[in-house]
Amino acid sequence: MNILGIETSCDETAIAVVKNGTEILSNVIASSQELQKQYGGVYPEMAARKQAEVIIPVLNSAINKYGSSIETIDCIAVTNRPGLIGSLLIGVEMAKTLGFTLNKPLIPVNHVKAHIYANWLSGSNPQFTALCLIVSGGHTELVLMKNHGDFTLLGQTQDDAAGEAFDKTARLLGLPYPGGPAIEKEAKNGDPKAYSFPRGMIGSKDYKFSFSGFKTAVLRETKKIETIDSQTKADLAASIQEAIVDVLVKKTIKAALEYKPKSIVVSGGVAANSRLRGKMKEAIEVNNSSIDLYIPPIKLCTDNGAIIASYAYFNNHPKPWKNIVATSYS
Ligand code: KG4
Ligand code: ZN
Repeated sequence: MNILGIETSCDETAIAVVKNGTEILSNVIASSQELQKQYGGVYPEMAARKQAEVIIPVLNSAINKYGSSIETIDCIAVTNRPGLIGSLLIGVEMAKTLGFTLNKPLIPVNHVKAHIYANWLSGSNPQFTALCLIVSGGHTELVLMKNHGDFTLLGQTQDDAAGEAFDKTARLLGLPYPGGPAIEKEAKNGDPKAYSFPRGMIGSKDYKFSFSGFKTAVLRETKKIETIDSQTKADLAASIQEAIVDVLVKKTIKAALEYKPKSIVVSGGVAANSRLRGKMKEAIEVNNSSIDLYIPPIKLCTDNGAIIASYAYFNNHPKPWKNIVATSYS
């Protein structure tokens, strides 16, 4: 089954064709990040206008790369939640129009859950029960997945998401948007122990996360420093990265010890972070080497249409077009 996946929840306009949920036949991503960079973050109105501008060229390119006629697509999947409403509407309306004109079934997709499926697109097949850490710009969730479609939320952030914590603290250091990759690059020459930033809720009994106190602590520290020279900036970046990664790894391992999953599956934009990838691997080896760790290739961590198509294959619940509504919330 070939599914067309459409993703427009934020500043990426992405369309892919995926065969049987696992094989990427085409995966085209246009991003307005370069434009958003000039303003230090995503401006929803601007992101939506950019989506409208590029969605048809992206569709064209995705179908060209697929190499067959669009008529041979079996089904159309689209992110309908959560995200920026103006951006979501562009993808949802495109999906409905295609479904209507081509007479194909439509599957609405939850973007956050779809991130998990990057792990089925990389030649892997994580075994259940899987403990999923989903870390993106808007979400930080620990989810227990007993099967496809069987998701239990163990805990989530009470305020900022992990990616947002990277983005906001990067801004304090004068680093560009998106902050995660910029902090990672800067941290390479820094000392992660130079500053001891708070690890929000690290000792709590639940699986909740909190990054707002951490963000305030970084703000206070940067205000204390008269001029941030390049070594100080690198040290701050390394310490920021260490604090965020520490909490994510500790909470995941705590949940793994309680729920004893067969797999730990990491996904979302922050999963591209090499310190998180390395530290999670180390922690699993130290605590329980029998759990398999899955982290997607970097290109599949951030937003793309392939994860939307893969989710739709494994959670195949078509809906009439009237019931496919774009909403900001999960
Ligand atoms: O999943 P994603 O592409 O979009 C959302 O659904 O939000 O995630 C984007 C987030 C941004 O906050 C970005 O700073 C973060 O992922 N990110 C990273 C890295 N690459 C992207 N964070 C840390 N290290 C990275 N290498
Ligand atoms: Zn995302």
